[in-house]
Amino acid sequence: MKRRSFLTLTGAAGVAGVAATVPGLAAAPAAASTARTAAAGSSSLRDLAARIGLHIGTAVIPFDLDNAPYAEILAEQFSAVTPGNEMKWGVVEPTQGQFDWSGADRLVSFAQAHGQLVRGHTLLWHNQLPTWLTDGVTNGSISNSQLADLLKQHIFTEVGRYRGKIWQWDVANEFFTDATSTNPSHLNQDDFWVSHLGPDIIPQAFRWAHQADPHALLFYNDYNIAGEDGSNSKSDAVFAWLKQMLAQGVPIHGVGDQGHLDTQFGFSGAKMQQDLERYAGLGLKVAITEADVRTFVDGPTTQVPTDSLAQFAQPFEFGQMLKAAMAVPDCLSFTVWGFGDADSWVPGFFTGEGYATIYDVSLQPKPAFFELQQDLALGASGAPRHKDH
Ligand code: G3I
Repeated sequence: MKRRSFLTLTGAAGVAGVAATVPGLAAAPAAASTARTAAAGSSSLRDLAARIGLHIGTAVIPFDLDNAPYAEILAEQFSAVTPGNEMKWGVVEPTQGQFDWSGADRLVSFAQAHGQLVRGHTLLWHNQLPTWLTDGVTNGSISNSQLADLLKQHIFTEVGRYRGKIWQWDVANEFFTDATSTNPSHLNQDDFWVSHLGPDIIPQAFRWAHQADPHALLFYNDYNIAGEDGSNSKSDAVFAWLKQMLAQGVPIHGVGDQGHLDTQFGFSGAKMQQDLERYAGLGLKVAITEADVRTFVDGPTTQVPTDSLAQFAQPFEFGQMLKAAMAVPDCLSFTVWGFGDADSWVPGFFTGEGYATIYDVSLQPKPAFFELQQDLALGASGAPRHKDH
């Protein structure tokens, strides 16, 4: 039960205890971990969260570690990092057999130097695959059995390379359909991997990842699976699938809800909490893995909300998500998907929308940052006892 004791230790010790409990982080420079331990009274997100055993993470987007103000916020505010793109197959093996680990290696080193944990993202996804792989499948030069072999090799190579250095791996990402009024959510049979290799490839990927790094926590990661989807259909489908996988002994240790919200749709923090609790009831760890809250803005450069109420709705929904995460003891981490509006994926993917992160386009903290900070401070210390009047 090594995995259990690892979890207990990190949960109790928070950031300060991390370097000693993650094998790969044991070599982190002593000065860095001492600096993190000495942060009593700090009001950074990471230090406040450490007081309740929660990790506050961010995706590293852009990959801008040479930008001093960016790197400073990254180190100061966050106790976990996720590479936004640098561990995806298309990035690490752009040409078959030729690997580029430069970004991933650099982020792992950065994390070690700053007492941060790493979420590996992601091993099995239909997106950002190398073109040599997808072209080979399309033109028939890669057969289905060769595809399975290549995937196995990919997982062993990547997970093996970072063995002992990754806290949570997003093994499988986004395999369920969005529900419609006529069609409830289900495992997507048209997914690239499922359509070529069948649904059993997903549990198989977990087994391979577990063999490659028996101590990493292996996550299923998806969006709209904790309170965001009004019908809860997708959460129900994922819950049923996880139950089935666990009954079959598949090494799945956690479920990540991405947490990509939009102020134009409804959202209930209470429902998110219920869904997280339901997953935890299966014996799983949970995490919010890609939180952001988008809204309509004046333009992609300035990203000022066009509806004056959106500037209140945006931090409110961030706060709702964080409070749901804080209320569930099995929730290990709350990760934002990049921390600055200038570099968010949102304006490029949703026309007319933006303002999705917790820092503005000039890397100044926004109301959402202060909302998270206030929630964490209350969580860390509780409200002060009020005087009799
Ligand atoms: O690297 C190329 C660059 O060479 C080229 O000049 C440029 C031109 O557009 O594109 C660059 O690649 C972009 C890549 O991000 C790196 O910046 C891709 O076009 C772009 O599509 C890609 O977007 C990423 C997206 O996943 C792909 O679906 C986002 O950065 C990344 O934040 C986003 O992350 C996903 C999670 O992995 C899974 N959950 C949803 C989340 C948001 O979409």
